Amino acid sequence: TARDDFAARLLRWFDVSGRHDLPWQHPRTPYRVWLSEIMLQQTQVRTVIPYFLRFVDALPTLPALAAAPLDQVLALWSGLGYYSRARNLHAAARVCMDRHGGELPRDPEALTALPGIGRSTAAAILTQAWGERHAILDGNVKRVLARYHGIDGWPGLPAVEKRLWALAESHLPHARLADYTQAQMDLGATICTRDPACALCPLQADCVARIEGRTAELPTPRPN
Ligand code: ADE
Ligand code: SF4
Repeated sequence: TARDDFAARLLRWFDVSGRHDLPWQHPRTPYRVWLSEIMLQQTQVRTVIPYFLRFVDALPTLPALAAAPLDQVLALWSGLGYYSRARNLHAAARVCMDRHGGELPRDPEALTALPGIGRSTAAAILTQAWGERHAILDGNVKRVLARYHGIDGWPGLPAVEKRLWALAESHLPHARLADYTQAQMDLGATICTRDPACALCPLQADCVARIEGRTAELPTPRPN
């Protein structure tokens, strides 16, 4: 069915047009995936890359991060903004030392219990670090799904968000979960942007917003 094709089409597009050379993909360790996802929560890829490289050069492992003084972590974060991310990262590393044997836990509940990790970030880590099967739903994915399925309503509303989570889970493939997560991020960042390039989109054949000419209206903006 068209719905089952969502992931297959996205992955075929990703093979040709996705980002395969991001520094946290080589090597793709849980620590590097986690750090990149926290940096990428509020900051674009091209800005994150030099900060990420400097950070892992100074603090290459989770134990090194946990052992570092907070001042060093904040200095490495300096310029990225949203400094609570750095404080949470440092605190989470110490929790991992105390409770998880010095490693990031491979478990959704344990991950979301760590400071700074919500449901979507936990899923992004589990898929990319271990290939586990979980749906992500960040701002990029909300935009793609709201358009593809023609979902009305501001995605910040709990009822709308709940529908979008269910749709995200309905599309999950059974293999290549790390690539699938990155493919969704890449489509949202490069094709299904505010002014989308639908002619280049692998999902165009079945996208409700494109077919109905509603890409400018979806996702529904936050009510005033
Ligand atoms: N935003 C959050 N995670 C990302 C990723 N892995 N690649 C690009 N943008 C992202
Ligand atoms: Fe987004 Fe256009 Fe692709 Fe639909 S067809 S998912 S609106 S880029």
